[in-house]
Amino acid sequence: MSHTKHSSPPLGVPTIRVVAMPTDTNPAGDVFGGWIMSQMDLAAGTTAAFRANGRCVTVAINSLVFLEPVVVGDEVSIYTNIVRSGRTSLTIHVETWRRARHTHITSKVTEGEFIFVALDEERRPRELPPPQPGDSLPAPVSEKTL
Ligand SMILES: CC(C)(COP(=O)(O)OP(=O)(O)OC[C@H]1O[C@@H](n2cnc3c(N)ncnc32)[C@H](O)[C@@H]1OP(=O)(O)O)[C@@H](O)C(=O)NCCC(=O)NCCS
Repeated sequence: MSHTKHSSPPLGVPTIRVVAMPTDTNPAGDVFGGWIMSQMDLAAGTTAAFRANGRCVTVAINSLVFLEPVVVGDEVSIYTNIVRSGRTSLTIHVETWRRARHTHITSKVTEGEFIFVALDEERRPRELPPPQPGDSLPAPVSEKTL
């Protein structure tokens, strides 16, 4: 039996997992979209820095869709996937999934495309190092293999 409301599983490598707290809400009591965006930016930045082997900055967020609300207590998981490597830039697809605290059911709540640029010491765009096998973030060890 599937525990996800979506037909496809999360796309990408699990990069950040965090619990939504009361301090993360908007005045209406739902989790603030800006907080979710910042988690997505942090996750994409982690992936970019790893691939670029150094400092990176966000240059653009090309798309961002909020599909469902997140509520306090939800476990929020961010997945990242590099979909394009340019000369100095990386385009990263980012998905956010929620799991209501007391259930197994997960659902996708946002997805977007973040663009990062690798920088040198003078904050100028820096050419990306050549791709290496396995230069995505390491996937976590499956519980089944523990
Ligand atoms: C990132 C920054 C150094 C890029 O400077 P720039 O003069 O635009 O650099 P370039 O024109 O050489 O572009 C560098 C790369 O970024 C890409 N890029 C620049 N602007 C872009 C945009 N709006 N959308 C998508 N890609 C963009 C270019 O296509 C290029 O990619 P490539 O080398 O893979 O082909 C500069 O814009 C900057 O410092 N911005 C502020 C970043 C920041 O503070 N972010 C928030 C905190 S992390």
